[in-house]
Amino acid sequence: MIQKTLTMLKPDTMAAGNAGKIIAMLESEGFAIIGMKLFRLTAEKAGRFYAVHRERPFYSSLVSFMSEGPVIAMVLEREDAIQHLRKVMGATDPAKADPGTIRKLFASSIEHNAIHGSDSEASAQFEIGFFFSQLEQL
Ligand code: RTP
Ligand code: MG
Repeated sequence: MIQKTLTMLKPDTMAAGNAGKIIAMLESEGFAIIGMKLFRLTAEKAGRFYAVHRERPFYSSLVSFMSEGPVIAMVLEREDAIQHLRKVMGATDPAKADPGTIRKLFASSIEHNAIHGSDSEASAQFEIGFFFSQLEQL
């Protein structure tokens, strides 16, 4: 099934100059980029984006990390996009990520882990709508 998912290149990726390499990996995995924007999240917006985690001990640290510098958000389309993106990203903790995954290659810690990907149909729908209007997607 052709699906859409939302990815975000996190502030650590932008600061390290790894955005181009990660975008190239996503394209070579067959994802079509159908929406893309670069911006800086306020803490308020980062907090709403990750609201499902608000009770978790890492929430306030995550919110400040995600608002410390620019990010690139993209809508990606592909067969089985949600699950395939999660596979290409690798585990949340780069120490546990498979070789060749984005997080194994570019993440420096469980928090500074390079990339975000929607984890379900429901989260993809919420997250795409959070950043992109219908008009901004091909
Ligand atoms: P994401 O939502 O960003 O794609 O990451 P994920 O699904 O792999 O992991 P999730 O459990 O949703 O956690 C969201 C982000 O919070 C930070 N985190 N820090 N210090 C910690 O133990 C910890 N755990 C998670 C990471 O930036 C993680 O990607
Ligand atoms: Mg998640």
